[in-house]
Amino acid sequence: MNSIKTAFAKAIAEHLGQDALAVEGAIARPPDVALGMYAYPCFALAKSLRKAPPAIAADMAAAVAAPEGTELVAAGPYLNLKLKPGVLAREAVTEALAREPGKSVTVSGTGRTVLVDYSSPNAGKELVYHHIRSTVIGAALCKIYAAAGWNVVAVNHLGDWGTQFGKLILMWLREHGMDQEKALADLDKVTLSDLNRMYVGFKPAAQQDPSMEEEARLWFARLEAKEPFARRCWECFIEVSKKELNKVYVRFGAKFDHFLGESFYEDKLDGTIARIEKAGILEESEGAQVVHVGEDIPPCLIRKRDGATLYATRDLAAAIWRQQEFKTDRALYVVDSGQSLHFKQVFAVLERMGEVCAKGCVHVPFGLVLGKGEDGQWSKVSTRSGTGSPLPEVMDRAAARIRETMESLAKKRAEQDGREKEAFDPAALDRLAEAVGVGALVFNELKNRRMVDTKFDLDSILSFEGDTGPYIMYAHVRLAGILRKVSVLPDPAKARWELLCEPQTEDVLSLLTQFGERVDAAVEGNEPSVVAQYALELAEKVHAFTHHHRVLDVDATPERLLLVQAAKKTLAAALALLGLEPVERM
Ligand code: ARG
Repeated sequence: MNSIKTAFAKAIAEHLGQDALAVEGAIARPPDVALGMYAYPCFALAKSLRKAPPAIAADMAAAVAAPEGTELVAAGPYLNLKLKPGVLAREAVTEALAREPGKSVTVSGTGRTVLVDYSSPNAGKELVYHHIRSTVIGAALCKIYAAAGWNVVAVNHLGDWGTQFGKLILMWLREHGMDQEKALADLDKVTLSDLNRMYVGFKPAAQQDPSMEEEARLWFARLEAKEPFARRCWECFIEVSKKELNKVYVRFGAKFDHFLGESFYEDKLDGTIARIEKAGILEESEGAQVVHVGEDIPPCLIRKRDGATLYATRDLAAAIWRQQEFKTDRALYVVDSGQSLHFKQVFAVLERMGEVCAKGCVHVPFGLVLGKGEDGQWSKVSTRSGTGSPLPEVMDRAAARIRETMESLAKKRAEQDGREKEAFDPAALDRLAEAVGVGALVFNELKNRRMVDTKFDLDSILSFEGDTGPYIMYAHVRLAGILRKVSVLPDPAKARWELLCEPQTEDVLSLLTQFGERVDAAVEGNEPSVVAQYALELAEKVHAFTHHHRVLDVDATPERLLLVQAAKKTLAAALALLGLEPVERM
């Protein structure tokens, strides 16, 4: 369909002697398909042509050469492009039939590189449920940008540095009676739950024995000084964390090109600070070094009085290094809205330093995950308070519950048909339950705008009714089921496209042609929900179409099956962009 839009733009541009790309950028969709497929607003021409926009539109309707299969009509101040009968169907279906998950949908990002910093949890402790947000929003953005033709670099900025590692080393040592040899010998047995236990246990232990705080700081200082015992413990803790993280990432289809934790920038910090100094913006404040970034926000702390660097210092080093390494046009930081001030400060420092990357840095914030408390009230789920279940555990629970539902559905179906329960392959059922269970969690996080808080309520998340993952995945399964009943699909080359003309049919066709625009809009707003809402809309319109028009009867127009196939491919592609597996059966 983009080809028609481009042809429309080209025809106008030739007539006006303007740049075709600029013209294409101005072309919009009329509010109603009945008015036409595309509309070119003539307001901007009024001044130079010294004419009222409706008169310009009328002139252009007569003078501009209509692209093949279309006619041009004036509608008030707009020049509208209408498709001749059958052209919408031909264009929409042919384009959609060529869709495959993983294939690009639009070309708007061609030649540009985006870096997506996402998930980026702190190592040394378990992922809890709310970590799902950055992970699935970031993973979806990677896929959506790639579908718009961008070159994508996915980076995990693992929190693998800081005094908390001094605490973990100290705790590990204490659990081994302060015997370094024993502690080292046990390192290969350390698990993430050990790390978690020590992470949680440090605070109460230090309340008993306040000298532990100082000792932990010392251990971190030794780690910074590359002391072998500290180093060995730390390396092992990070390895264990990464291994567990990767298990979760695989289940979400979240991929990273680089795991570059905060420690990676350690040897680049002095250089970064020197660069800030050279820019003449580093200031002394009560013994610390800061950069002022405006009246309305506090200065960015670069180095503490005791010489320690900070989270922000490492983010500055990372931004500069990434720009040099990947030549990025845009860098997204998919991090909760609680860190907005941090990113404002960091980006402002980059700006004052005159770094090229400053322009392209975007904080992509999101809201909270709310959990239901004992009192029935929704409130923030937090790691510290100990609420919030481990993420992998919730994923297991979701999959197990979907498996139960599917088994009981299969049983019910068998009873209704009066036959034995369908034989099923337990391994296949496990895989399916995993795809639907995890898909349900993912969709719950992506269906609304990212700044909206999400609610963690497994009952509604796993329901097959409402705007849920199981519902949208089932919509795809229904289309797959229809197509399985057909032995040979009609040949698109021989299709009588003009037969696909009823209102519900045109609704689906029009929506199919909008997929690329929606992907572009998702990129522009860094908003995966645009794609999620598109999938819901498509499912609904396809449902209305199959409800009103028979698709499988002997006397049904075979072209309708092509539409079903086109819709299925588009829905599958949309689901894949969100990180949901478009399964064929349930
Ligand atoms: N590790 C940080 C946290 O858990 C998030 C890091 C986000 N990325 C970044 N470049 N600062 O809060």
